[in-house]
Amino acid sequence: MSKIPGDYLLYCENVTKAYGGKIVLEDIDLAVRRKEFCTVVGPSGCGKSTLLRLILGQERVTGGTLLIDGEPACHPGPDRGIVYQKYTLFPHLTILENIMAGRQLGQPLWKTFSTRKAAREEAFFYLKSVQLEGHADKYPHQLSGGMQQRVAIAQALVMRPRILLMDEPFGALDPGTREAMQMLILELWEEYGMTVFFVTHDLEEAVYLGTRILVISQYYTHERKTNGVPHGARIVCDYKLNDQALSTRVKQTAAFGKLIQTIRYEGFEPEVLQHAKAFNLTHSDSFITYDGEELGNKD
Ligand SMILES: Nc1ncnc2c1ncn2[C@@H]1O[C@H](COP(=O)(O)OP(=O)(O)OP(=O)(O)O)[C@@H](O)[C@H]1O
Ligand SMILES: [Mg+2]
Repeated sequence: MSKIPGDYLLYCENVTKAYGGKIVLEDIDLAVRRKEFCTVVGPSGCGKSTLLRLILGQERVTGGTLLIDGEPACHPGPDRGIVYQKYTLFPHLTILENIMAGRQLGQPLWKTFSTRKAAREEAFFYLKSVQLEGHADKYPHQLSGGMQQRVAIAQALVMRPRILLMDEPFGALDPGTREAMQMLILELWEEYGMTVFFVTHDLEEAVYLGTRILVISQYYTHERKTNGVPHGARIVCDYKLNDQALSTRVKQTAAFGKLIQTIRYEGFEPEVLQHAKAFNLTHSDSFITYDGEELGNKD
């Protein structure tokens, strides 16, 4: 059962990505609505960053359809911003100039000059929204890791992306800074109404932040003949989470801990192989395009 692609900001049907003969992602079916905060988890090497690169348009799908707002994502565009775990800011530019650089890249030189004042004001606006207004004239080496990550977020926001992609953005931060950054990203998400696609290794972070959690894993089984070639990772669980940011107290509840346990069991245990027909795709936007072989005799 497939969906109407135009109803979704991001739409993938049967998306496959292979490098050489190695299939990394296989038959990814995914429809994401505007303003969703999707968190993405899965075993190391399952293809989370690869999926982000496909959505960003940095790489092409090997097979299937990937649409952003109904259009193929062939190359990166200002509608998609990305924040990585370790972001290298321009060391010779001030913090404010670093944020402006995000906006000015790709513009003709005359335009850069004619819009410089407006760009400064705009950059300052986003600097304030990541709570760094007192640091505009400093250089990156004068800021902590957490502050540099805030600059990277502002640099992505200044393009006013409709989709903000984040690849383990808080993975290198200490726990206290990480929690503050989680609050900040929730505030920014609510304020700017973006769709967020957030990859993390931390299941607690994923369940806490998301309105929806996707588990991508190579640990599953189907009936399809693969001629000995290992299959790629698929979305093995897709759960709806809370719609709004909640108090961090929710992390102490039994239901929160139970969901983390379930996700760990369903996606991260090499010995636990769910059949494709039994994937826990309970989110209402979830869908899966089976082929006959995959269904086998298990009907
Ligand atoms: N350009 C490439 N050429 C060949 N293989 C690649 C390329 N990029 C990724 N891969 C392979 O694809 C697989 C998935 O990599 P990817 O980085 O997407 O995983 P990941 O889920 O983000 O892992 P991690 O959790 O460690 O960040 C890996 O086996 C990796 O070696
Ligand atoms: Mg990765």
